[in-house]
Amino acid sequence: MDKSAVLADWIKPNNMPITSSEQFAPSNIALCKYWGKRDKQLNLPMNASLSVSLGHLGTHTRLVPIDYSADEIWLNSDRLLPSSAFCQRISAFLDLFRKPGTCSFRVTTRNSIPTAAGLASSASGFAALAKAVNESFQLELNTEQLSVLARLGSGSACRSVFKGFVEWQMGQREDGLDSHGIQLNAAWPGLCVGLVKVDASVKATDSRSGMQRTVETAHLYQSWPVQAAHDIVLLKEAIAEKDFAKLGQTAEHNALSMHATMIASWPPLVYWQPESLATMQRIWKLRKDGLAVYFTMDAGPNLKLLFEQADLDAVMRYFPDMEVIQPFGHG
Ligand code: DP6
Repeated sequence: MDKSAVLADWIKPNNMPITSSEQFAPSNIALCKYWGKRDKQLNLPMNASLSVSLGHLGTHTRLVPIDYSADEIWLNSDRLLPSSAFCQRISAFLDLFRKPGTCSFRVTTRNSIPTAAGLASSASGFAALAKAVNESFQLELNTEQLSVLARLGSGSACRSVFKGFVEWQMGQREDGLDSHGIQLNAAWPGLCVGLVKVDASVKATDSRSGMQRTVETAHLYQSWPVQAAHDIVLLKEAIAEKDFAKLGQTAEHNALSMHATMIASWPPLVYWQPESLATMQRIWKLRKDGLAVYFTMDAGPNLKLLFEQADLDAVMRYFPDMEVIQPFGHG
């Protein structure tokens, strides 16, 4: 099934944008990762995932209908070449909603994510764009439908439509209308996420092709959806019980298991740099010495540390350059 068929019932007959729109969506960090698709076209996942949204860190997107024949796309005050991969992805997303040749947009995207933090912006970017399209075309979609829309841009974007802890239910339907985020009714004031930058350069293999390679070539991948399903249960228990050790351990184990499947791909997919491993070893040593700090990692060399506010000063002593976010505010 293609994206237009999925959206057919949601799109208005005249397909014209009514108004400009400016929207924000937060970045999110997965504690149980999305890795592998059962449908590449619709970004339908092989497993459910669970994330925490990063409060005010994310993407602001302004969408303005214009008279020119092509979209004009800006990223952090730079006008991008229409042929760039970023522009092509955004224009292709907008094509889902407009009749060919009828209108163009100026899309202004500003990330409040520190650019060197090694955080992906596609999740918050497509979530903000989905919200802006909803307003501009007056589609009047509810939040779950918006999450479906964001997923069609980038899988992990379906979680960035929401604040706080978010579960992406994998769903069963062929059209994916049941595969979207839902916000968990839980908060964790004082929970800290620390961004430790190892290398901010663009990664050699993006998540999209990396996960495809893993699904196609790694025998270890068979056990991934089984572990992810189990980890979701453990994470929800940890969140309900405010059991930080269980949360941290499950998130770290989940990330390392995902990386194990990547490394077992062929050609091998190793996102770590020597400093990534050195940082992991420091964290394991700190934990052995009694500090409750854990980490998670995505498809890149940087680490995201998980700890509680009570340990903020102690963790900062070892990672003075780390950017710290408290998604639920102070404890
Ligand atoms: C490792 O959502 O970027 O960050 O659906 O192809 O756009 P596409 O992939 P994307 O993959 C994110 C993978 C991850 C794990 C996660 O965020 O759950």
